[in-house]
Amino acid sequence: MIQPGTVRQVGGVARLWPVDPVLKDNPDRLRWNARYAAGFRPSFEPHPLARLALSSDLPQGPVLDLAAGTSGSVILAAKSGRTAVGVDVSDEALSLLAAEIERQGMSGRVTVVQADLRDWRPGSREYALVLCIGYWDRDLFVLAADAVLPGGVLGWEALTTEALDLAPQMPSQWCVRPGEPASLLPAGWEVISSQDVPGRSRRRMLARRPLA
Ligand SMILES: C[S@@+](CC[C@H](N)C(=O)[O-])C[C@H]1O[C@@H](n2cnc3c(N)ncnc32)[C@H](O)[C@@H]1O
Repeated sequence: MIQPGTVRQVGGVARLWPVDPVLKDNPDRLRWNARYAAGFRPSFEPHPLARLALSSDLPQGPVLDLAAGTSGSVILAAKSGRTAVGVDVSDEALSLLAAEIERQGMSGRVTVVQADLRDWRPGSREYALVLCIGYWDRDLFVLAADAVLPGGVLGWEALTTEALDLAPQMPSQWCVRPGEPASLLPAGWEVISSQDVPGRSRRRMLARRPLA
């Protein structure tokens, strides 16, 4: 199930991106669009958590990348034979990603959705793998865990509170607290790995939902 938002099945119109009027003045969209438009050169590299998870034992099912930006994780998922959905608020990022998806011949397998993740909600037990890299919202984390199929995997990387030492003006709710996000997983989940990324004030976690 794809929730409301501006949905694009990637095709030949990747650079003609009519912006959802609801998102026109969205502050996150404007902020991130400005960053992506300012000469940003995407590598379209899949995230290491995507590589790790996609090479592990996963159930059948699609992949969801939350706050996908220009990450190549959805492309890797498509090349692994899965369908994938990438959600992000930035049309600048999604148009770059959509063009790359098309260039790599993966248009039939990837859907990109322009939406604000404070409103957009995944369905329950739908995805073999849910990823979120570089974005943190405690409520979304709980919903993302619920969106994972039994036996599936959740991968997350977010800023830790150490990032506030370098950027004290940043809202603290953008950062995971000590022990998070693993401590927020429902009972029964197996934490495959949880570690701080050296020198980056980020924590990276991979966890598997129980089969039952
Ligand atoms: C640090 S970047 C990470 C992008 C990508 N996951 C990666 O690893 O390259 C954060 C992403 O979150 C997106 N974002 C920020 N606020 C958002 C929101 N409210 N809803 C949806 N996406 C948002 C930005 O557009 C940006 O692409």
